Amino acid sequence: MGAMAPGTHSLVRMALLLLLPALMLCEALPAIWVPGDYANNISDALRFLSDYNSTAEEVFFNSVSASWNYNTNLTEHNSKLQVAASLEEQAFVEAWGGVAKQVFSKDVLDSLPAKDKKLVNKIMSLGAANLPQAEREEYNTILSTMDSIYSTAKVFPQPNISWSLEPGE
Ligand SMILES: *[C@@H]1O[C@H](CO)[C@@H](O)[C@H](O)[C@H]1NC(C)=O
Ligand SMILES: *[C@@H]1O[C@H](CO)[C@@H](O)[C@H](O)[C@H]1NC(C)=O
Ligand SMILES: *[C@@H]1O[C@H](CO)[C@@H](O)[C@H](O)[C@H]1NC(C)=O
Ligand SMILES: *[C@@H]1O[C@H](CO)[C@@H](O)[C@H](O)[C@H]1NC(C)=O
Repeated sequence: MGAMAPGTHSLVRMALLLLLPALMLCEALPAIWVPGDYANNISDALRFLSDYNSTAEEVFFNSVSASWNYNTNLTEHNSKLQVAASLEEQAFVEAWGGVAKQVFSKDVLDSLPAKDKKLVNKIMSLGAANLPQAEREEYNTILSTMDSIYSTAKVFPQPNISWSLEPGE
């Protein structure tokens, strides 16, 4: 901590202030990203994986875009969008991990091609991001704060330059 650049502490404090309104969010998974109904058989396990793949692509793209947006344009609005996208991503991971755990038996999973079995296992273990909502928000806040530290450090590498981070400027 002692080696931090001057101004970093006020930056962190400012970033936390920016994020406070976002902590009020309680993000649900948009309906189009909610997993469907699957039976415990091989064809449905493959259908599950194929649905997971196409949905995951959208969810992760959305989350990465929101982070990128915020990192390149540090506004309160973009911070809220980033935290919201990140909570959606975690809701997605939990929902699909939960379905994988509940629906498919070991027998069915063992009958899948090796790479598909590996993917289901990954989906299940990602669901272990089973943090309660409050902790997830805290986790996202920390991530977002780190993002702002690193991206601001990139934009303003000179130690002399002021670290002002006023919302909307
Ligand atoms: C798997 O279950 C679904 C839904 O019940 C059914 O439509 C499908 O035919 C089943 N597939 C196999 C291989 O049993
Ligand atoms: C899902 O995507 C992964 C990674 O791209 C791929 O290895 C796997 O074959 C895909 N599975 C299905 C069922 O589409
Ligand atoms: C930065 O984000 C704000 C929304 O918070 C937007 O109105 C503005 O146009 C963005 N600026 C740039 C340069 O993209
Ligand atoms: C930092 O600011 C001081 C005083 O304004 C100036 O003398 C110095 O050259 C600056 N250093 C850099 C790296 O810009």
